[in-house]
Amino acid sequence: MKRVFSGVQPTGNLHLGNYLGAIKNFVSLQNDHECIYCVVDMHAITVRQDPKILKNNILEVAAAFVASGINPEKSIIFVQSQVSAHAELAWIFNCVARLGWLNRMTQFKEKAGKNRENASAGLYTYPVLMAADILAYHASHVPVGDDQRQHLELARDIAQKFNNDFKVDFFPITEPVIMGNATRVMSLRDGKNKMSKSDISDYSRLNLTDSADEISKKIRKAKTDPLPLPDLSCLDDEEKFKDDIIANRPEAVNLLNIYAALANENIKKVVSIFAEKQFSFFKNELNDISVEVLSPITAEMRKLIDDKAYLEDILNKGRENAHGMASPILKRTKEIVGFY
Ligand code: TRP
Repeated sequence: MKRVFSGVQPTGNLHLGNYLGAIKNFVSLQNDHECIYCVVDMHAITVRQDPKILKNNILEVAAAFVASGINPEKSIIFVQSQVSAHAELAWIFNCVARLGWLNRMTQFKEKAGKNRENASAGLYTYPVLMAADILAYHASHVPVGDDQRQHLELARDIAQKFNNDFKVDFFPITEPVIMGNATRVMSLRDGKNKMSKSDISDYSRLNLTDSADEISKKIRKAKTDPLPLPDLSCLDDEEKFKDDIIANRPEAVNLLNIYAALANENIKKVVSIFAEKQFSFFKNELNDISVEVLSPITAEMRKLIDDKAYLEDILNKGRENAHGMASPILKRTKEIVGFY
């Protein structure tokens, strides 16, 4: 059975983009894969976090995993910092990865911004830790959003260089799994920007903790354009939105994509249902499906966070299982490297 690993950072404001782009895919992979899902708190501290808030956010991500349908009996759910193999392997990989490779990482450049001198060293080697996350379990498949593609390439380069340098065939070359219509969920206020936990406007996103009322308000206020919804001529032969409609009507495209992902429908069907309809009509339907899908998740998350004991149980078991899997791989890595 293929082994899947993925991680979500506990940095607050889990939103529809995290659900549709990541967690929902994690759920469906459970049926025919061995899955390991990690709350990556060590990645979170590459930028400054308030300790109390971080702690709550860690539980919130774990709760979101379970509430969304990740089954702790089937899949491993755990917290990164609780399994030391991640840090240990990351150090070894820091000595395999080349500065030149890290210098090419576009996400570091974006996150560090203009004041690069003041970014943490952790932010710089962040993708090395990510490679360690994956390779500590010899995971072969990694579901991620499009923005993580380059980091996965780096994980492949590290695995390959390690294998070459030490003349072994030890670490697998990981495949990205980029799935779903709405892997890129855009802001409700601007269809050209990704839905983001750090957007100053809360109206830009549907949070997994929003009430039904908040969801409705946000969808009512979501940016649209004055035209009725597009007909099937907006799709190309591969049933993807054509470039000109993405450029000219990004909000319509985004809301249709969101609807399709929430309804588990293909985009052609969704476009044909709403072709030529007014946004007011479509928004009512979008609101209904959003509330229908998100409300039970929100309610379950609340319940899990209120009853911490159950969640902590899951995380303890997850830690043990993750540790059990990573330990022999780390041990063998140390032997290969020549540690005594
Ligand atoms: N960097 C990923 C993100 O921000 C999170 C992550 C950390 C991850 N380690 C991982 C994803 C390992 C996949 C595999 O989305």
